[in-house]
Amino acid sequence: MTHKIYISQPIPENALKILRDGGLEVETNTDNRVLEKSELMQAIQGKDGLLSLLTDTVDAEVLSANPNLKIVSNYAVGYNNIDVQAATERNILVTNTPGVLTETTADLAFALLMASARKLLEADKFTRAGKFHKWEPLGFLGQDIHGATLGIVGAGKIGTATARKGHKGFGMRILYFDPNENDYLNNELQATKVSLEELLQESDFVSLHVPLIEKTHHLIGAQELSLMKPTAYLINTARGPVVDEATLAEALQKGTIAGAGLDVYENEPDVHPDLLNLDNVILAPHIASASIHTRQEMARIAAENIVAFFEGEDIPSPVNPEILSHS
Ligand code: DGY
Repeated sequence: MTHKIYISQPIPENALKILRDGGLEVETNTDNRVLEKSELMQAIQGKDGLLSLLTDTVDAEVLSANPNLKIVSNYAVGYNNIDVQAATERNILVTNTPGVLTETTADLAFALLMASARKLLEADKFTRAGKFHKWEPLGFLGQDIHGATLGIVGAGKIGTATARKGHKGFGMRILYFDPNENDYLNNELQATKVSLEELLQESDFVSLHVPLIEKTHHLIGAQELSLMKPTAYLINTARGPVVDEATLAEALQKGTIAGAGLDVYENEPDVHPDLLNLDNVILAPHIASASIHTRQEMARIAAENIVAFFEGEDIPSPVNPEILSHS
């Protein structure tokens, strides 16, 4: 019997080839929009697998819409959009795409950090507006990146890569907050594991790299922002709800912190209206993994997870591997 896969939005073509070469039948939503929940529930009828995006809410209701669904392969490393427990209860495998986007995401964290510290977007606007009349001794004075202290919140793969770029590229001192010791950070980058409070108080740049789980929801709120230096910057390439966005907008308005570089938002694709009017925040539309190569690699892994599952082979990146022992 041919297994049928539904892809909730167009992704790089290499995924389709892998799926078809694996003997699977593929249907893609070709509309350039996120499906309503009811549409997604309808679309997965008669399918054996769903290749989902981080913009799809795959909750218990969606998972219950098709009792024959066997796998949800998320085209992302983060899987907070999926109710994994509900999937496990229904014996549905969930997979993600770790590893391949680590460096690309850390690159963007760094791009936001550098552009924020050196007021690059404001300077670009100024130049385009024809305001560059003379070299200004006091114009666009930003913060040095080299030698500054970089605080990494969440020292997993992406946090570690961001720290490495900071330390090896710019001689930054690295502090990190994580439940676990990170030997690479400790030994290779002479980093120090500290409390969140200490990290916020001491860092010139705070970069967030935690997954979105109950404990990290609004990890950065009014109290945490008030601990940061008025010259410090907050960088978020993790998930929007890790930061209380309204509170951040207020802190940026009041100058509690110097600025922020954001790739993710609390209610994507909406951005808090107050942020839109501020010059000291850079707003990117969730593009941290958006390099041609990385998006192809994410497509490859998302497809390979599905093919491996139906061929009974080892799954490259299962999120709930416990279901494999009784499927
Ligand atoms: C992910 O994979 O979780 C990223 O947010 C995609 O950019």
